[in-house]
This record gives sequence, C-alpha cells and structure tokens, in this order.
Amino acid sequence: MTERLTLTRPDDWHLHLRDGAPMADVLPYTARQFARAIVMPNLKPPVTTVAQAAAYRQRILAARPPDSDFEPLMTLYLTDNTTADEIRRAKESGFVHGVKLYPAGATTNSDAGVTDLARCARALEAMQDVDLPLQVHGEVTRAEVDVFDREARFIDDVLEPLRRDFPALRVVFEHITTRQAADYVRDAPGPIGATITAHHLLYNRNALFLTPHGRAGVRPHYYCLPVLKREPHRQALVAAATSGNPRFFLGTDSAPHPKGEKESACGCAGCFTAASALEMYATVFEAAGALDKLEAFASFHGADFYRLPRNRGTVTLAREPWTLPSELAFGDTAVVPLAAGETLPWKIVA
Ligand code: DOR
Ligand code: ZN
Repeated sequence: MTERLTLTRPDDWHLHLRDGAPMADVLPYTARQFARAIVMPNLKPPVTTVAQAAAYRQRILAARPPDSDFEPLMTLYLTDNTTADEIRRAKESGFVHGVKLYPAGATTNSDAGVTDLARCARALEAMQDVDLPLQVHGEVTRAEVDVFDREARFIDDVLEPLRRDFPALRVVFEHITTRQAADYVRDAPGPIGATITAHHLLYNRNALFLTPHGRAGVRPHYYCLPVLKREPHRQALVAAATSGNPRFFLGTDSAPHPKGEKESACGCAGCFTAASALEMYATVFEAAGALDKLEAFASFHGADFYRLPRNRGTVTLAREPWTLPSELAFGDTAVVPLAAGETLPWKIVA
C-alpha cells in the first residue's frame, strides 16, 4: 500500500474566494496546497471589468499568508453588456485568464448573468479572436426543466450551438456532474476542457438525504449546483478524472457560505472543500486504483489547457487519517466544511 505520495504542486482551476474578512479566513487553506487558482468573479456586485478584477486581485494578494507565493488567476463575469473592448483589455492585462458564463439565475450570485447568449456575440467573437477561454456554468435555467436534467439539456441547447458558432473558442465546461457531460468533453471536436470537483467524485445524490450510516435527513452542506447526481454519473466522472485524458482537470468549486445561510429554509448552493481538497481527490483516486493518475489531473492538465507553465515544487500526502472539524472561522461567522466530522485517509504533510 502506498504510504506517501509526492506530487508536483497542483493548481485549483475553479475556486470561490469571496471577499473581505471571510476571504482572509479561507484563502490560507487554498494557498497551502495549490500554487494558483482560477478565482470566480461572482461577488456582490460581480467582477465585470478589468479594473474590478485588478482591485480584487490586489485584495487577494494582500490577504495571503506571510511567505505565500500563491497566485490568483482572475476571471471576468460575462453579462449581456460585456464589450469586445473589455475582452481585449482583459487579454492585455495578463492577469485575466478567462470569462465566466453564468446563465442568469443558474446559481449563487448569478442574477447579473447572461439572459441570452445571442446578446454576447461580440464579446464571444473577441474572446475567440484574442484566445481568452470561456468558463461555463453549464445548466439551463428554464423552470420547466428538471433540476437534475439541467446540465444534460445545456449541452444540446446551448453548448453545441455556441461551439458551432465559435469553433476556435477555448471552453471549460465547469464542474461537470453527468455522464453526458463527461462523454461530450471526451468526444467533442475542438478546444474544450472540463473541471471536476472532489464532491462530485465522492458523493452521489443520496448524500443530500442520508448520512454515511444511512440516517435520513436533509443535509444542506452537500447541496451545490449543479446538484449531485445518481451513482452512474458519479462513476462516469471518476472514470473521466482517472482516465489520463488531458481534457479533464482539477477544479474544486470550493464555495464557502456562512453556516446560517446553508442551514436555512432556503439554503444556498456551495460546498466548502478548500480545507481538504487534495486529500479528498487522493481518496477518490485511490479507491479507483488510479493514484498514479492523480498528478497529471491535479498538476499538469489544467496548466497545459490554460497555456501556463507547470509548477515547480511539490506537495506531499501521507496516509495519516484525520477528521474534518465541525466548523471553521469565516469572518464574523463560521463555515461548515464538506464532510465535517468524517475521516479522510490522506493528509498533506509537506
Ligand atoms: O454550488 C455552487 N456554489 N455552485 C455555483 O455555481 C456557485 C457556487 C457559489 O458561488 O456559492
Ligand atoms: Zn463555482
């Protein structure tokens, strides 16, 4: 049995850091394991301009722990009004690495998102032209579409037409959750990648309603969007992540919320995994007999897709079981980590 695992330092290609004091509390968990992270722009108000991204980036840099060289890779939030000029400025900035499509109403802080992609034609054309990736939250939002079907419908209704219209646009299908999405990313022509979260690899939708010991109850900390799916979808994601295919890479979608806003009558979507991310991925890869595939998924494929250098330096995991705390500091409140109280077999030791 492998007892220690040393990997090239990984990156997180999809992360929510929030802002202000809560950010200062969660950032160190990411910075201790990941060299870089693609930072999502869904603040209130959203990061829609290069000037806002520059200011947010400075706040993140200022909140880094002493001696940290963590590098935030910034994104812009696509709206119906994003101009081609803003896209060109983003590319020229050197610190904006993509533009995020949130279909309006799809998830947390997506109210300012895109109502109709046709309105974004000029921005998308400019992105294709300057080669700035589009990161997509891939769910349709029409009320009549079942929540569990929203990702699969997005592929046919939005993603395929979008990629036909902009065949050279680099697209990241974020936090994929279904067999359909994994198959699409594996087989589709043209430049496409996908991030996969630790929680979608670890859990199926039963986790929303049952403890690991089978006790029933609504479990808000397991609620995220796109929502956890059935077991065959989880298995398809594990197969994709461990396949060695460079189109699939690590993106935690770690999304902290105040405890009270999760444990409420209308609890918000998002799982906080930054404090245990790499250990969770290692657990999944080991269960699949594919620990040897973890380094490329975590440390190479994303950097290659984004055309950034692979990291130097390493991180080491050891087989040292530890139990996740019940909550962690989050500004003037607390955040409950995913799998609080559960034990993970792997621990980062260096
Ligand atoms: O579960 C989610 N939480 N999904 C998202 O797409 C957004 C995120 C958040 O910002 O909380
Ligand atoms: Zn996200």
